[in-house]
Amino acid sequence: MNYIFRYCIRLYLVFPYVIDKLLGFCYKHLMRSCGSHVYIRPLYSDIKGLHNLSIGNGTSIPKGSVFYCTEAPLIIGNKVLFGPRPTIITGDHRIDRLGEYIVDVNEKLPENDKMVTIEDDVWTGANITILKGVTIGRGSVVAAGSVVTKSCPPYSIIGGVPAKIIKYRFTVEQVLEHERLLYPVDKRLRKEDILKSRL
Ligand SMILES: CC(C)(COP(=O)(O)OP(=O)(O)OC[C@H]1O[C@@H](n2cnc3c(N)ncnc32)[C@H](O)[C@@H]1OP(=O)(O)O)[C@@H](O)C(=O)NCCC(=O)NCCS
Repeated sequence: MNYIFRYCIRLYLVFPYVIDKLLGFCYKHLMRSCGSHVYIRPLYSDIKGLHNLSIGNGTSIPKGSVFYCTEAPLIIGNKVLFGPRPTIITGDHRIDRLGEYIVDVNEKLPENDKMVTIEDDVWTGANITILKGVTIGRGSVVAAGSVVTKSCPPYSIIGGVPAKIIKYRFTVEQVLEHERLLYPVDKRLRKEDILKSRL
């Protein structure tokens, strides 16, 4: 009897794992682009609009992710670290039509959908939401529970609802050193641009 129980538990654990792996393989091929060493959990996530989703190298998409790519793409960079349950949505519904239920309005305005970009080396804390048109600058941290409605500069730490800059991860000199160690010359941020982004 114990043997049967153990067998059932093993089946219960292994079956979803295999399905998840198979789905992951299919999702990666249906995406706009997908780098190497990308880990994705389709069975436990809600991802829509794969044709508009790009994920860079070494980025893992955790269980409970909600990514809605509308007509506007979602671009996720290299080595992005997501905490549990990130929600990223690249569009809104139209809410300006008189005499029509929101759910019944099918056509959109161009400004209803806007691209979201999460640049390389970003860490998002648990339960964050990122809305249309936002760029999270390279190396930034999004604090747990934030709702991000505006873009933030590289190496910033943002938090709150709506998210605002809390502080910067590094001084400008430290950013230059960090980038020197991680990126080839042509990919590094320029000192003038970092300074300008912090004004
Ligand atoms: C963003 C974070 C890294 C900042 O940590 P920290 O550098 O130690 O910052 P502090 O705790 O000193 O807080 C600095 C300020 O930011 C505020 N702050 C910190 N976390 C915040 C949050 N989630 N939302 C809003 N404000 C926040 C603090 O209240 C503080 O404000 P004050 O200066 O007015 O007092 C951390 O708060 C966080 O959100 N970590 C995410 C943890 C997580 O979700 N992990 C998942 C596993 S991957």
